Amino acid sequence: MKHISIDVIETWARFYRANFINCLSGFKSANLIGTVNKSGQPNLAVFSSVVHLGSDPALIGFINRPLAAAPHTIQNIEATGVYTINHINPSFVEKAHQTSAKYPVEVNEFEAVDLQPLFIDNIIAPFVQESLIKYSLELVEIVPIKHNNTFLVIGAITNVLIHETLIGEDGFISLEKAESMVSLGLDAYFTTKIKARYGYAKPDLPIKKII
Ligand SMILES: Cc1cc2nc3c(=O)[nH]c(=O)nc-3n(C[C@H](O)[C@H](O)[C@H](O)COP(=O)(O)O)c2cc1C
Repeated sequence: MKHISIDVIETWARFYRANFINCLSGFKSANLIGTVNKSGQPNLAVFSSVVHLGSDPALIGFINRPLAAAPHTIQNIEATGVYTINHINPSFVEKAHQTSAKYPVEVNEFEAVDLQPLFIDNIIAPFVQESLIKYSLELVEIVPIKHNNTFLVIGAITNVLIHETLIGEDGFISLEKAESMVSLGLDAYFTTKIKARYGYAKPDLPIKKII
């Protein structure tokens, strides 16, 4: 097995190093985050660093890159306190990827890439019509990460839009059936296949396979 120290990694070219390091933390969920600015102008961009922070209260976090690199989503969230997270499906993955381009602030990415915004009562941020699993959030806290000028944006889930057939008897959502995609690095997208589900693990019980 090859042993690579950080001293060696730091000598690598920027994109090679970024790809390599990005793959180490594994597959991440592929999402579109929908926002509006104070005047109601929509914005849409791909985010994969979305992480579950807790179920009760239902909190989700995501990492926003430094402001110079990815300014619009975080600024809109700060301004309005509301955003949506939309799972990406194979039927619109190309369009979703295109939203990662650095469009000028006045460009509405829904129009630029041809995705449909969906507005529901009392939520000013747009959902992505084409997405099969989507939810809205209210901003709770933005935690600056001083070490690399990124931000942990924490939101509380307020509404979920999902096909009922995707929800199992125990609340487990079949992301495989929904074809919610995962991503790796900044350019690769995958569909998934379940391998197994197991019962709650206890030291004195044998492993119980559910599926
Ligand atoms: C697969 C993929 C995943 C990405 N994940 C993130 C992410 O988690 N955080 C982030 O800040 N940018 C991420 N980006 C980059 C943003 O999509 C990109 O910077 C975008 O232009 C931000 O737009 P905004 O300024 O409208 O927020 C990702 C891009 C791709 C292609």
